[in-house]
Amino acid sequence: MNNSARYTRVAIVLHWLIALGVIWQIAIGWSMIEIPKSPPGVRAYWFNIHKSIGLTLGMLILLRIVWRLTHGAPPLPATLPAWQRLAARASHFGLYACMIIMPLSGYLGSSFTKYPIKYFGHTLPHWGWDSPAYKEICSQVHFVAVIVFMSLMAIHIAAAVKHMLARDGVMQRITRW
Ligand code: HEM
Ligand code: HEM
Repeated sequence: MNNSARYTRVAIVLHWLIALGVIWQIAIGWSMIEIPKSPPGVRAYWFNIHKSIGLTLGMLILLRIVWRLTHGAPPLPATLPAWQRLAARASHFGLYACMIIMPLSGYLGSSFTKYPIKYFGHTLPHWGWDSPAYKEICSQVHFVAVIVFMSLMAIHIAAAVKHMLARDGVMQRITRW
């Protein structure tokens, strides 16, 4: 396999960094909402960690999208059937959509409360206002989007394992070995 059939080094690093970050972020998200409100502090601590990691991921995702739009994707192996090409395009598009919606809905929802967002301890400018209705809409979007996101990730990872076992060159596109 020649190098031109691989994603660029930057795209590969961003893919794995974001993949690990998102999986970790989802684990924190589901765990933190179970933390009781008293004693005060523990729940807020994990919510702040979740918000800080989520905003960092949002910035990495923006960088990744700019990189993708300016560098494109390498051509898929010629042997790949048409339906798999279509499925890959559709699912990758869906993954990108979720990667945008998750940090955005989280950030907007957190802006429509009376509490400012703390980014790893630093208070961010608070432009929003206390609106339970807007906050609720954003929370619903965040919740539905993460269900769609997890479903797409399950399909994506299953497809990756299938290609890895088939040794058809797809896995090498996103790895350096
Ligand atoms: C163990 C986990 C994962 C494996 C083994 C894996 C594997 C792969 C492989 C082999 C490709 C190249 C596919 C191709 O070129 O057609 C790819 C691309 C991609 N992966 Fe993953 N992936 C994983 C996790 C994730 C996660 C968690 C996300 C979402 C945050 C993600 C998002 C994407 C996207 C959007 C692409 C398309 C890249 C593009 O064309 O711009 N992956 N992945
Ligand atoms: C890739 C980015 C993100 C992922 C994958 C993610 C994932 C999750 C998950 C799995 C939950 C638990 C399910 C739920 O209640 O919706 C959750 C809840 C939550 N997330 Fe995120 N999140 C991300 C980014 C953010 C950001 C950037 C913020 C705020 C700045 C944020 C704020 C919240 C809040 C406040 C909750 C508690 C439930 C609510 O009030 O809506 N998230 N997130």
